[in-house]
Amino acid sequence: MAFTIAIDGPAAAGKGTLSKAVAAHFGFGHLDTGLLYRAVGAKMLDGVEPVAAAQALDVGDLDRSDLRSAAVAEAASKVAVIAEVRAALVDFQRAFARRAGGAVMDGRDIGTVICPEAEVKFFVTASAEVRAERRFRELEDSGTTYEAVLADVRARDERDMTRAEAPLKPAEDAVTIDTSALSIDEAVAQAIAVIEARQQD
Ligand code: CDP
Repeated sequence: MAFTIAIDGPAAAGKGTLSKAVAAHFGFGHLDTGLLYRAVGAKMLDGVEPVAAAQALDVGDLDRSDLRSAAVAEAASKVAVIAEVRAALVDFQRAFARRAGGAVMDGRDIGTVICPEAEVKFFVTASAEVRAERRFRELEDSGTTYEAVLADVRARDERDMTRAEAPLKPAEDAVTIDTSALSIDEAVAQAIAVIEARQQD
């Protein structure tokens, strides 16, 4: 049976960790849709035209080892404003969302644009400072500073929220989880409780 859980929110809010835990708990598949934009961004950095890169994207492209770098994150948010890039990635995302056995999709526009019919929608957020601190800890080996990471998080938030195409915003019927003061286990427990209540409807 298809059952879609949409998890949207800004950079480093904890969507990835939450999505993996929720998917594992329910035995659902998980698609990190940010990886699609990161893969297109990485190809742009290689010199490929982004629309062509999105149209030719292959699942193997999602295994590149550099996709988590700050440079690729920046490039991802730049290609993500291009309507043709977004359009090229829609079918793959919708097919995954309706796969048999359930799907957790994390991104920016899942509840609003890709899967407006999702059975459960979350908007996962946290203060910019908390998010930058978390991302800084993930990137620590790369020689960056907390201030640089905070500036990057703010710049991406701004670009993601103000773009014309599929801007980042909560769906009207999304449940917001602010993870600023929550442990991972607390955030996961909140999400599971909401989903279980919905499954019984
Ligand atoms: O992991 P993090 O939250 O930093 O970023 P991500 O989810 O991997 O997404 C990287 C960039 O891709 C975002 O800043 C967005 O600009 C873009 N993106 C998007 O536009 N729509 C999505 N569904 C997912 C990501």
